[in-house]
Amino acid sequence: GGGKLLIKGGIVVNEDVEMISDILIDNGHIQLIATEIAADSETRVVDARGKYVMPGGIDPHTHLEMPFMGEVACDTFATGHQAALAGGTTMHIDFALPVDGSLVKGWEEWRKKAAKANMDYGFHMAVTAWNDKVAEEMEYLAKNKGVNSYKFFMAYKGALMVTDEQLVEGFRHCKKIGALAQVHAENGDAVAAGQKYIAEELQILGPEGHALSRPAILEVEATERAINLAAWVNTPLYVVHVMSKGAMEAVARARQAGYRIIGEPTAAGLTLDESKMWDPDFKTAAAHVMSPPIRKHDVDGIALQNALKNRVLSLVATDHAVFNSTQKAKGKHDFRVLPNGVNGLEERIPVLWTTMVNTGKITPMDFVRITSTEAARIFNVYPQKGVIREGSDADLYVLDPTVEYTISPQTHHSALDTNVFEGIKCRGKVVTTISRGDIVWDNNQLFTKDGRGQYIETKPFSPYLFGGLEQEEALKRAEMNAPVKRNLDKIYA
Ligand code: URP
Ligand code: ZN
Ligand code: ZN
Ligand code: ZN
Repeated sequence: GGGKLLIKGGIVVNEDVEMISDILIDNGHIQLIATEIAADSETRVVDARGKYVMPGGIDPHTHLEMPFMGEVACDTFATGHQAALAGGTTMHIDFALPVDGSLVKGWEEWRKKAAKANMDYGFHMAVTAWNDKVAEEMEYLAKNKGVNSYKFFMAYKGALMVTDEQLVEGFRHCKKIGALAQVHAENGDAVAAGQKYIAEELQILGPEGHALSRPAILEVEATERAINLAAWVNTPLYVVHVMSKGAMEAVARARQAGYRIIGEPTAAGLTLDESKMWDPDFKTAAAHVMSPPIRKHDVDGIALQNALKNRVLSLVATDHAVFNSTQKAKGKHDFRVLPNGVNGLEERIPVLWTTMVNTGKITPMDFVRITSTEAARIFNVYPQKGVIREGSDADLYVLDPTVEYTISPQTHHSALDTNVFEGIKCRGKVVTTISRGDIVWDNNQLFTKDGRGQYIETKPFSPYLFGGLEQEEALKRAEMNAPVKRNLDKIYA
């Protein structure tokens, strides 16, 4: 950041405290938090009286410029970041895909895409095959390139999907290298059979076929299976885009039993309804197609909201993966080739504030936890990110709780020509966003530039935390006991 910045008189919110305070920012960092800080002549002052000042949003799940289903997601690291900054999000973790079967090449490719970054970003990597090279590259990226999370797809058969055997091998390897395993939990074989049935037997080819062919029960089945396999390996598991009440309940049962399972709902899953996939306007229906599908709001959406409130689910992502209406039109005559994905980078914060804080469901402190702090902790970038604290990066935003506005693709900042949140009336608007001490969004205007965002390494976890030492312990115990017990000790360790 450039000069000094002073944010005056705002309601400063962290996950554990709310206080009226001034914040002095210098050189990209939070320098001082105190009740009355005087400004010198070089200091720019932001008047935040009557407004909330919160840690910049961290979106733990996005797909910018992702090649997928024959298209490339139309938000780049420039447009996606501009949208994010206009909505109070100052960091995200994007999913890099392997290139030519190489995770390292994939990581390099995503770094090139991110040369245009307007805000800070980190990477997860998708693991779409299993062999020695993949295992070595995971270890290399975890140790040297700051990638501590790996996503396994249990769906998208014939493209990204892995088998259960590969899943178990992958989980075991994540545990070994101190990385967090993540799953896209849908039964891809059953989805393939369901798609065939819906499209070929029932002749349903419109976007509603997407919802019909991948019901919640297939998400529940895969979520339970992934949880059981992770429990067997004894490694933590992060379930991305939990979309159904049933999948949430699987997470709840596992957590109650003491397993380290993290469940991530999405902004769309929490607030929208599946009926939009039946919209007679193809463009609207197609815009809502994502996997797993958006479910019933009254049943699933509300249950997901309650689970967030009760800390059964941990944090909120967007799964921002956007294809414009021309790209979506590819699936006009067959939902099976309709590119999957919805928007949310710009809307996550105002829509959740409106839905969950304004209704009294959660406090502003809870809001900070689920939109920022928890993501920073889970991916090991806390307290550099996720908190307003002296020494932390000056990533924060000012939200005016009195401003009302309606979400529209005409006024949003994404490259997308549709918006699944269109028409939602928000009360509470992000009026100023600060990224590493720079005012990048203020008074409805962006002040940012391509290339200003930095890559944030997410460091591997302690092997002890991840149970990595127990194998060694088990072998030692086996040594001390009768040789005949050795195999059992290994198996049940
Ligand atoms: O429909 C979705 N979710 N598209 C993005 C890829 C994924 O599965 O997260
Ligand atoms: Zn997914
Ligand atoms: Zn995704
Ligand atoms: Zn720093």
